[in-house]
Amino acid sequence: MSNTLFSLAFGVGTQNRQSTWLEVFYAQPLLNPNAELVAKVTEKLGYRGGNQAIALTNQQAGELASALKGIDAVQAALLTRLAESAKPLVATLLAEDAALTSTPEAYLKLHLLSHRLVKPHGLNLTGIFPLLPNVAWTSQGAVDLVELPERQLEARLKGDLLEVFSVDKFPKMTDYVVPTGVRIADSARVRLGAYIGEGTTVMHEGFVNFNAGTAGPGMIEGRVSAGVFVGKGSDLGGGCSTMGTLSGGGNIVISVGEGCLIGANAGIGIPLGDRNIVEAGLYVTAGTKIALLDDQNNLVKVVKGRDLAGQTDLLFRRNSQSGAVECKTNKSAIELNEALHAHN
Ligand SMILES: CC(C)(COP(=O)(O)OP(=O)(O)OC[C@H]1O[C@@H](n2cnc3c(N)ncnc32)[C@H](O)[C@@H]1OP(=O)(O)O)[C@@H](O)C(=O)NCCC(=O)NCCS
Repeated sequence: MSNTLFSLAFGVGTQNRQSTWLEVFYAQPLLNPNAELVAKVTEKLGYRGGNQAIALTNQQAGELASALKGIDAVQAALLTRLAESAKPLVATLLAEDAALTSTPEAYLKLHLLSHRLVKPHGLNLTGIFPLLPNVAWTSQGAVDLVELPERQLEARLKGDLLEVFSVDKFPKMTDYVVPTGVRIADSARVRLGAYIGEGTTVMHEGFVNFNAGTAGPGMIEGRVSAGVFVGKGSDLGGGCSTMGTLSGGGNIVISVGEGCLIGANAGIGIPLGDRNIVEAGLYVTAGTKIALLDDQNNLVKVVKGRDLAGQTDLLFRRNSQSGAVECKTNKSAIELNEALHAHN
């Protein structure tokens, strides 16, 4: 059998009373792990190929830790810790990047994104939604919704409060990984599976969905919808919107190039090229009819938003007197405020 894998990770997680996985935490996920490591894990766990989430006992974790000592010190140290766990353990092995078949696999792929091992759109996430149970994310970790009322009562009877932070399929990213060099003002606004590039600041009003993110550096005060990727040095102003493709019929994958500014309360339904500016409050959709203006503000022609998708150095604005949406060449490419971004 070949000793190559797409991904491998050892995790600890939460199961409900029916032993169904609610979530899995992988401290050190690996992409394309080395052959010697894969060979040893295969031998020890009796892995027979394919994509599998194999339940690990504490004893197996301890044995695997000893077996991996001379091969991968980091994974061996992690397994030594996992061997002491009071919570269920799993070894997730992905032979290939195929459609998802289990909750531990789904969590591994979300980790690969947030650990910056794979960029948004770089993974096959087919089948993810049914595999992510809707969970109460509480001050005591993940709780099955059916078990929640009893857990709340138990906590109260001890004089404690079981605080429910959210009820969702996705947890917040920072409970699993905080990538280097970022600021995230309100951690609830970034879901696990977001890719937050080095030097990114996400302010309170910003939001980043899974399979979406930023190359960094950049400033995010608006919403980065699922599937959207924001290029280096771009600034998403307060409350702005990028159109997602998960709901509402949108089918163009939206991206933002490098050095762009999307103004406060503005929005885009087309991919932007580099150095584009969208005026505060203006929503540019694929079908928006746009007057192309020359340097003297004379009309050149009328085009649709989709015709300008991906083009560089554009300034979009809504004429405050006529109401028409206009596009000019952006001569004042924005520079991110160095002082704001240099301290992550
Ligand atoms: C679109 C935008 C970039 C234009 O800014 P600018 O390039 O500095 O342009 P100015 O405001 O200097 O305006 C240049 C000229 O265009 C005119 N103009 C600007 N916006 C206009 C509009 N919507 N309609 C008609 N004319 C307009 C100005 O009146 C000015 O005219 P003048 O040459 O006769 O004096 C700016 O208005 C904007 O929306 N910036 C986004 C800021 C933001 O939201 N940041 C995020 C914060 S969280």
